Amino acid sequence: MPLVNMKDMLEHAHANGYAVGAFDLVSLDFLEAIMAAAEEARAPVILSLAESHFEYFDFELAMAATVRAARRASVPVAIHLDHGHSLEKAVQGIRYGCNGVMVDASHHPFEENVRITREVAEMAHGCGVPVEGELGYVPGVEGEDAERHPGEIAYTTPEEAERFVRETGVDFLAVSIGTVHGRMKGEPRLDFERLKDINARLGIPLVIHGGTGLSDEQFRRLIAGGVTKINYYTALSDAAAGVIRGNAATDAKGYTALVAGIREAMKAECLRCIRLWGSEGRAEEVLEHARPWREVEHLIVYNVEGIDEDEVLARAEEGRRVLGAIPGVRSAETGVAVNGDAKYRYCWLVRFCHPAVIDSYRDHPDHVRFADEKFRPVAGDRISIDFLLDE
Ligand code: 13P
Repeated sequence: MPLVNMKDMLEHAHANGYAVGAFDLVSLDFLEAIMAAAEEARAPVILSLAESHFEYFDFELAMAATVRAARRASVPVAIHLDHGHSLEKAVQGIRYGCNGVMVDASHHPFEENVRITREVAEMAHGCGVPVEGELGYVPGVEGEDAERHPGEIAYTTPEEAERFVRETGVDFLAVSIGTVHGRMKGEPRLDFERLKDINARLGIPLVIHGGTGLSDEQFRRLIAGGVTKINYYTALSDAAAGVIRGNAATDAKGYTALVAGIREAMKAECLRCIRLWGSEGRAEEVLEHARPWREVEHLIVYNVEGIDEDEVLARAEEGRRVLGAIPGVRSAETGVAVNGDAKYRYCWLVRFCHPAVIDSYRDHPDHVRFADEKFRPVAGDRISIDFLLDE
């Protein structure tokens, strides 16, 4: 059950002065390490998958494992698309099971950033999914050396931040106040006054990217300034790489021998962060406060008139493709009754990520067209029910 509403989770953190770790994962080892740390610390946690990492793993396959890990957890979990760069990627992330999405258009000029972010926010909110935007520019790519990263830091200005949130409707804002993604040389200088001003004006959960390399004191001051989600990756990657280097220096042979111990190393680093950021021991409070993330099964059983079974199956195939692509649809399946005497011969099972999709799906032009042209005229004899699934 403990996949929870991420907005509720972060609002709890914001109101109670702590931050939740959003740890990027690139393999099952990361996923297991992050979850083991969250369980041991009884902490809420965000499992984060960054578009810049999709060259290293299959997003769809990784999401199946991530959703399973969240569902079977005993601590509250949210699943986030990190640094999504397009509307299509956000739709895909939601389809695969993300219940929070980041749209990062921060490298564009302000107006363009607003336009792209607003488009994603409107789509995601129609699916019940909260959205993180980024204003200002945090250079770099997770896991790469910061000094090789293109571009200069562009600081978030408090005035623009206010306008950005108002015009886009984002639920969380990633701010640029001096951090850089990836490995850093020396300690970055952070502009805490700027952060304080932004927090006072916005009053929404703020996000820091580029968590690796900051000092304990910097983290404490960031959290005091309204930061409630800290994105963290490179230090986990480096912890794993250190273990692998150590294994390689022995006579370890084979893959499993080389990666032995990386989960423990990453778990230890996650635990250090969770304790430092104050989310340790918060699981029970968050579970009480945050709405569980429950999906909806849109079930239709029906009989047809006026078309033969080949045509029914052809339309079902078309419908799976068309309806399965509508934002908020997790899957669209069709079937034929096993028992020839069944009261209804055919079914649709359309899984929505959230109850908000009942309305947005019904009104979506692709659904309206398919239903009016290909389904309703031949399927007058039908029952249609939306079931809120048990946790
Ligand atoms: P680090 O790799 O610097 O920890 O940053 C991670 C991040 O910001 C992911 O979005």
